[in-house]
Amino acid sequence: MFEDRLKAAATRIQAQFDQVLAPLADEPVIRGMAYATEGGKRLRGFLVLEGARLHGVEPGRAIWPATAIEALHAYSLVHDDLPCMDDDDLRRGRPTVHVKWDEATAVLVGDALQTLAFELITRPEVGPGDVRADLALSLARASGAEGMVLGQALDIAAETAAEPLTLDQITRLQAGKTGALIKWSAEAGARLAGEDPSALGAYAQALGLAFQIADDILDVEGDAGEVGKAVGKDADAGKATFVSLLGLDGAKRRAEDLVTQACDALSDYGDKAETLRDAARFVIARRN
Ligand code: IPE
Ligand code: IPE
Ligand code: MG
Ligand code: MG
Ligand code: MG
Repeated sequence: MFEDRLKAAATRIQAQFDQVLAPLADEPVIRGMAYATEGGKRLRGFLVLEGARLHGVEPGRAIWPATAIEALHAYSLVHDDLPCMDDDDLRRGRPTVHVKWDEATAVLVGDALQTLAFELITRPEVGPGDVRADLALSLARASGAEGMVLGQALDIAAETAAEPLTLDQITRLQAGKTGALIKWSAEAGARLAGEDPSALGAYAQALGLAFQIADDILDVEGDAGEVGKAVGKDADAGKATFVSLLGLDGAKRRAEDLVTQACDALSDYGDKAETLRDAARFVIARRN
């Protein structure tokens, strides 16, 4: 079952975090890093491991970028929850880092998780130098000023914009906010093998959009206890989301079309890619 495979990947990634963080000093910022990386579905790390499997890359190499992207994603969540951003108290069913420690610690935990991500993908165990450089360059682009950070900036700006965003604007916002890291995750296996990542990239583009539509739907339909984070926040903040633009039914139909599109993009991989197709179906059926 897909959920079991996802859980198995999550356990491997957790073990890698334990191994990497255990030798570090017993300081609040490091305890906060461990805390912030616990829990979560590990979908991005799973995509790295699965893409690597498709390209015949040894799991012992792929686990590093899989852990790295989860560190980078955790950084983005710690900062996303800060009072100056979404001001959230609950994440993955637990108090957010700035609530458990304080804001300065949360900023530093995010900073250190981001640099940890780059340390993990450039470790010698990952492979030849040119592969590591390609991973680092692509991750920097995916996470930075034209990637996730841009998406976050557009998302925050949209809260106070005079006019609601158009569908094109919100699609661009999403491509940065959630799309860029998901795309990097799916492409990483091909990059590790030195092969063309474009089919996995096309899959991830549709998957990432479906993922954000599902996140927006969960904000409306989800239950905080089950989702593990506050719900109803987008409407309260007056955020333009796929739900506010398309309506609940329209958003669900769009997400389903995107899953079909994501699955079709994998046709060259044949049956070997069935787990990634299951991942696409999971993304819109998930309840957290
Ligand atoms: C939540 O991501 C934040 C968004 C990018 C929308 P996930 O739903 O993947 O969160 P975790 O890692 O499973 O907690
Ligand atoms: C967060 O998006 C995206 C990133 C952290 C890059 P949201 O603000 O919609 O995520 P949640 O709903 O808080 O998880
Ligand atoms: Mg946000
Ligand atoms: Mg948020
Ligand atoms: Mg959200």
